[in-house]
Amino acid sequence: MAVVMEPPKEAQEAWEPRIVAFFCNWCTYAASDLAGISRVKYAPNMRIVRVMCSGRIDPSFVLEAFRDGADGVLIGGCNPGDCHYKEGNYKTMRRAMLLSQMLQDLGIEKERFRLDWICASCARELQTTVNHMTADLKRLGPLNWKGV
Ligand code: FES
Repeated sequence: MAVVMEPPKEAQEAWEPRIVAFFCNWCTYAASDLAGISRVKYAPNMRIVRVMCSGRIDPSFVLEAFRDGADGVLIGGCNPGDCHYKEGNYKTMRRAMLLSQMLQDLGIEKERFRLDWICASCARELQTTVNHMTADLKRLGPLNWKGV
């Protein structure tokens, strides 16, 4: 019979999840800028990688982020119909659906990977997204994924 050792309660409370966020320059990255200017605070668990379009995000970026220690990955892009490169976010949407299923097959809970459309003026929406994702990850605990 295996004995499962829980980490001490203090260690669980001290742990903070790491979120790697890939944000489109024109929308969600601008929203994060606006949040900073407007003093809209969100959980400090996110590190942002700016890309010119969410369509630039190769699924391998997400897998590498998880393998390199991320507990969650967030993709932010322009709303459907607003992509500056016309169809980039539609490609992202299709890829994300496949990737989400693949990640779950690899044992990564679906809450750890999230795609949201967050426009340039949506600092509050960004705040809500990051805070909810951070809370979900705290509930799930560390990932410690070693890759495929
Ligand atoms: Fe923002 Fe394509 S330019 S998602």
